[in-house]
Amino acid sequence: MAELRHQRQNGSHRKLALVHGLRIDNRAQYIYCTLMHQRLDGRDLQRPVSEWMRLPQDDDDLAAAARDYYGADALPVAGSQAAIQWLPRVRTRSRVGVLTPSYAEHAQAWRRAGHELRALSAAQCEAAIDTLDVLVLANPNNPGGERFERDRLLDWHRRLASRGGWLVVDEAFADAHAELSVADHAHAAGLVVLRSLGKFFGLAGARVGFVLAARELREALAEGLGPWTIAGPSRQLAAWALRDRAWQRAQQQRLQVASDRLRRLLHAQGLSPDGGCALFQRCIVDDAEPIEQAFARRGILLRRFDAPSSLRFGLPASEAQWQRLQAALLARPAGLALPVLENGMSPS
Ligand SMILES: Cc1ncc(COP(=O)(O)O)c(C=O)c1O
Repeated sequence: MAELRHQRQNGSHRKLALVHGLRIDNRAQYIYCTLMHQRLDGRDLQRPVSEWMRLPQDDDDLAAAARDYYGADALPVAGSQAAIQWLPRVRTRSRVGVLTPSYAEHAQAWRRAGHELRALSAAQCEAAIDTLDVLVLANPNNPGGERFERDRLLDWHRRLASRGGWLVVDEAFADAHAELSVADHAHAAGLVVLRSLGKFFGLAGARVGFVLAARELREALAEGLGPWTIAGPSRQLAAWALRDRAWQRAQQQRLQVASDRLRRLLHAQGLSPDGGCALFQRCIVDDAEPIEQAFARRGILLRRFDAPSSLRFGLPASEAQWQRLQAALLARPAGLALPVLENGMSPS
């Protein structure tokens, strides 16, 4: 009773009553309804519950929501990872340039499917383009944050497509950098754009991504991946996320503020980022391992890369996490140089 009184006072009573009213009888349903209600307050909760109990249908709102958001027809997939793994199987043996370093799953998938691979830095792509059948890159890139201008990508696409080739652009991190996206051209043969709900939208666990490409290729991928690849509740959640323009605008602003703050914090503590995007910053360091380990001992996970030796910092999710990150930086783990002041001196 005391709990109920407390819930009435703080306004959470109606929320709980609604969830109980659905006779939630397992943990998964409870979590899903709670999630739905927190993020999408006021919507009908009966539908999400039934979504758990039937096979997912593709005549829901997801394809239309994706078309409105991306400006192109999109094949929903179980995370862009699913498409990354299947795409190389849709082509006969090809000469494939892969931006390196980048999200390593691309190179692995093309190699595993028997293609001839060539690792390319961002600066090497232009000279290599006419010798390739396929070029795979991420824009902005992960972890280095390299960016490719739209006009340059469209030129590369034209040159590849004129010989039956493909340009594959992984835009997993492009939601906060819309000016870079070539999604609106993805109906053209030979241009494949991969998108993810796991980054900007923060829904990595829902496993939803999209392939934007000409209809023939989308159909070939759909055939290879098979039916019911995305769970019904994930489809529903994804459609709502893609339609929630107010949340997207707020997220753009949050990310801008947070990424500026991260860049300034790292800079002030002697780790000047050499690249990054709205969601992370990468810092080149002489010896990344001891720094990574010192942060891990404090419960902060950084991504370490060996070539070049570097660390990738993601955005803290709360003020408490910002304070923990700052404290870890101030503790000066071995290998972390002191910042150089404008007068050329290091602070004591
Ligand atoms: C550049 C890039 N592309 C694609 C993915 C795969 O994301 P998802 O399968 O969650 O859409 C990742 C995951 O980290 C990534 O970094």
